[in-house]
Amino acid sequence: MEIDPKKLKVLLTEEEILEKAKEIGKQITEYYKNIDDEIIAVCALKGSVHFFSDLVKHIDHDMKYYFVRVSSYHGGTSSTGKITVNSWTNEPLEGKHILIVEDIVDTGNTIRFLINEIKKQNPASIKLTSLLIKNAHDHGIDVDFPGFEIDNYFVIGYGLDYDEKYRNLPFIGYVE
Ligand code: IMP
Repeated sequence: MEIDPKKLKVLLTEEEILEKAKEIGKQITEYYKNIDDEIIAVCALKGSVHFFSDLVKHIDHDMKYYFVRVSSYHGGTSSTGKITVNSWTNEPLEGKHILIVEDIVDTGNTIRFLINEIKKQNPASIKLTSLLIKNAHDHGIDVDFPGFEIDNYFVIGYGLDYDEKYRNLPFIGYVE
């Protein structure tokens, strides 16, 4: 697939995304308000980088940032189904309150893998937020703080790539 910039349609504007990040940030703040411990916010690179950065500014709670990289897409628009860990945190997660920040849940394989890896370290809790959730698959993933549910488009921008490109678009777009 080649992306013709002239055929690119805007699915979500920068304003809509930022408003949603603020809304989710408030929900997360409310959820953790009776928990004194810090939150460990886990950014699933690379796609979540912008959402993570815009979201955490609206979470009013002590937190630490962790960045991990697992990937299931190797270029193109379809998942290989095989997940690889490209980089992981060495910090112990035992007894910690983990908040995973994802860009998109498609088949759910990546997030299932990530949750299982984190669970091995016996955290106190694991919560999940994802900016986008594709409704095409019956992935059975319970997103605690969901962003937008979208149709089965291949989307780019605001961190999401096609062949490592277009991550820097400020909006989320698709090609019909
Ligand atoms: P899953 O494992 O099928 O849920 O896919 C999750 C990962 O695939 C995301 O973290 C993205 O990196 C990538 N992905 C899924 N759908 C899209 C898309 O429409 N555009 C760009 N990347 C996507």
